[in-house]
Amino acid sequence: MRIETDQRSSAGAEGPTRTRRFRVFRYKRGDRGPRYETFDVPVEARTTVLDAMRWIQLHVDPSLAIRHSCSHASCGTCGVRVDGREVLMCVTPVEDLGREITVEPVANLPVLTDLVVDMRAFYARYPDEHPLVRESELLPGAKTPEGIATYVRYEDCIECGLCLSACPIAATDDRYVGPAALAAAERIVEERRGADLAALLAWADEPDGVWRCHAIFECTRACPSDVRPAERIMTLRGMLARGHAPMEEAR
Ligand code: SF4
Ligand code: FES
Repeated sequence: MRIETDQRSSAGAEGPTRTRRFRVFRYKRGDRGPRYETFDVPVEARTTVLDAMRWIQLHVDPSLAIRHSCSHASCGTCGVRVDGREVLMCVTPVEDLGREITVEPVANLPVLTDLVVDMRAFYARYPDEHPLVRESELLPGAKTPEGIATYVRYEDCIECGLCLSACPIAATDDRYVGPAALAAAERIVEERRGADLAALLAWADEPDGVWRCHAIFECTRACPSDVRPAERIMTLRGMLARGHAPMEEAR
């Protein structure tokens, strides 16, 4: 696959006093392959990688595709790799990085365009059978609104996909369900949300489940929300290895 490099200058006639050079992964549907483009971006003390990508969109190339929403590490949409490390763009200061900064989409998910990946392959890994609202959240007489499942999340996980990107096992085998889905399963077991815990543990016990993990802990290092997926996978393994009844484990 041929990678072309094209430099795009963003400095005005007078030129910014402080700039960082961004080497950005580019790919559009129909392209023969990805390439990298470089952009010189003026930065200030609190400029983030997300600010820099938006500056490129506004001042140089509006076709640069990125995902973002909250700008404060809550929505999980702005995950990318910066200089090979998984980060959220909105809370990654440029000041902490070098003179030339490489920005690429997260790994182990299909690239749709530029820095945008297809998250359907991430959500498809989650177990199908699990409750989405805890019993304690239901008020007497309350009725769960139709379609609520679309909106409810596991508390700590922001579903950014950074753990999956950092996982060396997911890089070689896309059947592995991966750290986020297993962490979600362990949390359900831990919190006893009325799920069929035996079925959930049986799902985690499948060949593509907890036993596929090599305990490298890259997922835990990459996670911006302290979910610590690797530790959760080890907890599930312990339950399965001891053969404890799920309901006893969860009490
Ligand atoms: S476990 Fe952490 S890294 Fe993985 S999707 Fe959730 S928040 Fe992101
Ligand atoms: S924009 Fe929401 S986490 Fe970065």
